[in-house]
Amino acid sequence: MRPIPIEFCPIRPERRRAPLTDTSALGFGRHFSDHFFRADFSSERGWSHARIEPLRTLQIDPAAICLHYGQAIFEGLKAYRGPNGESFLFRLDKSVERFTNSARRLNMEPVPAELFTRAIRALVLSERDWIPTCPGSALYIRPTLIATDPYLGVRAGSEYLFFVLAGPVGPYYPQGFNPVSILVETEDVRAVRGGLGEAKTAANYAHGLRAQRRAALQGFAQVLWLDAIERRFVEEVGTMNIFFVIDGELITPPLNGTILPGITRDSVLALTRAWGLTVHERPIAIDEVLDAAQSGRLTEAFGTGTAAVISPVGKLSHRGVEHVINGGQSGPLSLRLFDHLSRLQRGEVADELGWVERVDTRDFKAEIAG
Ligand code: COI
Repeated sequence: MRPIPIEFCPIRPERRRAPLTDTSALGFGRHFSDHFFRADFSSERGWSHARIEPLRTLQIDPAAICLHYGQAIFEGLKAYRGPNGESFLFRLDKSVERFTNSARRLNMEPVPAELFTRAIRALVLSERDWIPTCPGSALYIRPTLIATDPYLGVRAGSEYLFFVLAGPVGPYYPQGFNPVSILVETEDVRAVRGGLGEAKTAANYAHGLRAQRRAALQGFAQVLWLDAIERRFVEEVGTMNIFFVIDGELITPPLNGTILPGITRDSVLALTRAWGLTVHERPIAIDEVLDAAQSGRLTEAFGTGTAAVISPVGKLSHRGVEHVINGGQSGPLSLRLFDHLSRLQRGEVADELGWVERVDTRDFKAEIAG
C-alpha cells in the first residue's frame, strides 16, 4: 500500500515564537513547539489527513470513547542536538514496537510503523529549532493515540486520532541529576499479570496519582511499586524502571507483564553487559534490597526512563524507616551511564549498537511527500 502523504501547514510567520532554549526555565512537559502532527483513522477510510500544522486545541466530542473508557496510549521519546547542530533520534524502532503493543493491549487500531516513523522524523525536522542545546536537555516527543468516536456503549473505538506533540525539556526531576528520595508504596499496587502494566496507557498513570500525592506530601519524588500478589517484589518507580547494585552486581526486576518495558532499561542492560558487568534480570524482594542497604552491600540504586534518563536514588523509605544509599550521593555506575547515554544520544561517541539515527534536514521533503 502507498504510504499516506503528510501535509505541512506552517504557522503564520507573525505567530512563530522564538524557541525556548534556556534549560533552567524549561522544566519538564510545560512548553510546546509551534507545530504538532495529527492523523485520523476511521474504519471506512483507514488512515487519512496526516499533517503537521500549528499547535492548537483539539475539538473532541464529549461522548468520545477515550474520555469514558480510557482508550488512550502514548509514547515518550527525545530528539537531541549534536555538536554540529545535527538532530538525532534514539531507538525510534523500540518506540514503534511498544506503541504497537500498547495499541493491541487496549484493543485500539495500531498506527502503521511507517506512518509513526515518518510522523516523528517529519516533526523533528519541522521543529528542529526547538531542540535545546544545554546538557541534560532535549526535545521531548509525545506520540498519542485516542479513540474519538462518540458512543457510550462499552466497545472499542472505530475512529482514532493519532497526534504527536514536541516540546523542549530539561531534567524530569527538579533535582536534575542529583539523587531523588523514593517512598516504597505499601497500600496501592500498580498492576497484575494479565492487566495493563506493560502497556503505556493513560490509565496506569491515573492509577498511580494517589500514591504519588501521598509520597509528595512526605517529601518524596516518587513511589516504588511492589508486586500486587505478595506485596514483596520490587516492580518499578512511577515514571521509571529501577536498578540496584548489590555486591557489585546489577539487578533489575524482569519483564513479567506487570512492568513497563523501558527503552532506557533495555539500553542500560545492553551497555552494562557490553561493559562486562554481571547483570541479573530477576525478581528482587524489597527485604533483600533493604537488608543490602543496611549491611552496606547496596552501593547504588537508580531509575531509568526516557524522561528521567538515569536518576540516582539517594534514599528509600519503607514503613517509616529511611535507608540512605551511597551516602545520598550519585554512584559511579549511574554517572557513567548518564554520561555515556547523553553523549551517545548526541552523536558524540561511536554508536556501536546502531541505536542513533541522524534526522537529516534534506529528508524533510521526502518525509512530507510520503
Ligand atoms: C517517559 O519517560 O517518556 C515517560 O513517558 C514517563 C512519564 C513522563 C510519563
